Amino acid sequence: MLSIRKAVAAILLAVPVNAREITFPPVAAIDARGGQVPLFGQGAPIDISGSAYQGLTTFANLPYVHCLSAEKNVDSFDIAFLGAPFDTGVTARPGARFGPTGIRWGSRRLDKDMGDSIYTGQNPLADWAKVVDCGDAPLTFLDNTIALKQLDKAHEVISSRTTNSSDYTVPRIITLGGDHTTTLSALRSTFHHWGPVSVLHFDSHIDTWDPAVLGGGISHYAGVNHGTFLHLAHEEGLIRNTSSHAGIRAPVKYSSDVKNDKRCGFDIVTARDMDKLGVTGVIEKLKAHVKGTRVYVSVDIDVLDPAFAPATGTAEPGGWSTRELLTVLDGLEGIEIVGGDVGWFLLFARSTCSS
Ligand SMILES: *[C@@H]1O[C@H](CO)[C@@H](O)[C@H](O)[C@H]1NC(C)=O
Ligand SMILES: *[C@@H]1O[C@H](CO)[C@@H](O)[C@H](O)[C@H]1NC(C)=O
Repeated sequence: MLSIRKAVAAILLAVPVNAREITFPPVAAIDARGGQVPLFGQGAPIDISGSAYQGLTTFANLPYVHCLSAEKNVDSFDIAFLGAPFDTGVTARPGARFGPTGIRWGSRRLDKDMGDSIYTGQNPLADWAKVVDCGDAPLTFLDNTIALKQLDKAHEVISSRTTNSSDYTVPRIITLGGDHTTTLSALRSTFHHWGPVSVLHFDSHIDTWDPAVLGGGISHYAGVNHGTFLHLAHEEGLIRNTSSHAGIRAPVKYSSDVKNDKRCGFDIVTARDMDKLGVTGVIEKLKAHVKGTRVYVSVDIDVLDPAFAPATGTAEPGGWSTRELLTVLDGLEGIEIVGGDVGWFLLFARSTCSS
């Protein structure tokens, strides 16, 4: 009894004079890069060089490169993230102009020093490609025609930069949307470098609507929107007839819209095909469809069920789970993907479904 009391007294005497100065025992071998600043031993120097929550926010803490600089030479890269803060081509809830910012916020815990996949052991941020964040394209919110021209130009400038790898000469771009109209600029850019591509389009909507139908034929300006861009891409000759949608479930005018969709070169894998075919079957079907062609992958986050992604512009019930989508995307390994995008995030929205 007495000895315990003595021991407690000795510990109390050992606390610092200033009782508010909390001290931690020295902890060795905590790597600052994993996202935590290390705890310090008494008297140890304070290291502020490594937290994932420091500095300006880039996607997954990747290095920022001023890719749109007027300078002829900037740091070389192989894959660039590019924000497209644009949402004035929508038919329902706007707000996706804040999507790129939201994606970057959400990715702050990602870091290439601890980025190995538990499934494959591979680290996509530290593989063959030097991956960077180019920030956002400057897009006006007052004129869609001008905004798309600005985005076309951003793709042109970035895809003309020098690659770090000697195996490829054209850097690839992953666009962070933005409403889906922004994919049109990306497809114009891939066409310029690689010719027509197959599009693997993950979405609950077909997005090949005839501009005369979606937009009401009011004007050519109104016809360029987030539900017609794949129709326009077909008309401009940017895409192949080996394209496919995946996760489709939103209502259509069956006789005319689906016929037009086929005419634009698309096959349809519905949301419920996941129940019939399973993830492996869906992956096999998509891969077989685009076999031997170059592919552009476009992910509208509303392919997910609103239970997983309620903050989107035109949510539709009955969608895929996040795990199913990620497994399908991982399963695409082996096809030649020359560009991609993910978009339609609203930063501020509650869950509501349109149907
Ligand atoms: C960039 O290229 C250099 C020289 O070929 C190479 O050593 C380096 O690993 C590459 N960087 C990345 C991030 O791949
Ligand atoms: C796709 O286009 C090619 C020519 O580019 C044509 O030979 C083929 O029949 C078309 N396939 C479909 C399903 O329309």
